[in-house]
Amino acid sequence: AIDPKFEDTREVVEQHEGHTVWGPVDEPGQLGIHGTHVAVDFDICIGDGACLEDCPVDVFEWVDTPGHPESEIKPDPANESQCIDCMLCVDVCPVDAIDVDPG
Ligand code: SF4
Ligand code: F3S
Ligand code: ZN
Repeated sequence: AIDPKFEDTREVVEQHEGHTVWGPVDEPGQLGIHGTHVAVDFDICIGDGACLEDCPVDVFEWVDTPGHPESEIKPDPANESQCIDCMLCVDVCPVDAIDVDPG
């Protein structure tokens, strides 16, 4: 599961489409966590898609991640600021790859 303390244990390595990426990143096999309020651990995600399908405000957009061992598509939190903290994505992810912090 995603580490809920990632903001303390990881460092920001880049910005991607307006959100933060938390390292370590070593492409293509290690991609880090994308987003902060809506944080997706790309290294845990298996590309299930339930988060993207269920989000009522379309926070996520697929990005291609060729060569990643868990899945070659990931749900990027491209519209992170639109999140309404419903927690659906957190609840439906089969591998607990998403952390949403309503605080
Ligand atoms: Fe979308 Fe709800 Fe997840 Fe926010 S908590 S990203 S609104 S599904
Ligand atoms: Fe990935 Fe979980 Fe969504 S596996 S695609 S973060 S439901
Ligand atoms: Zn991203």
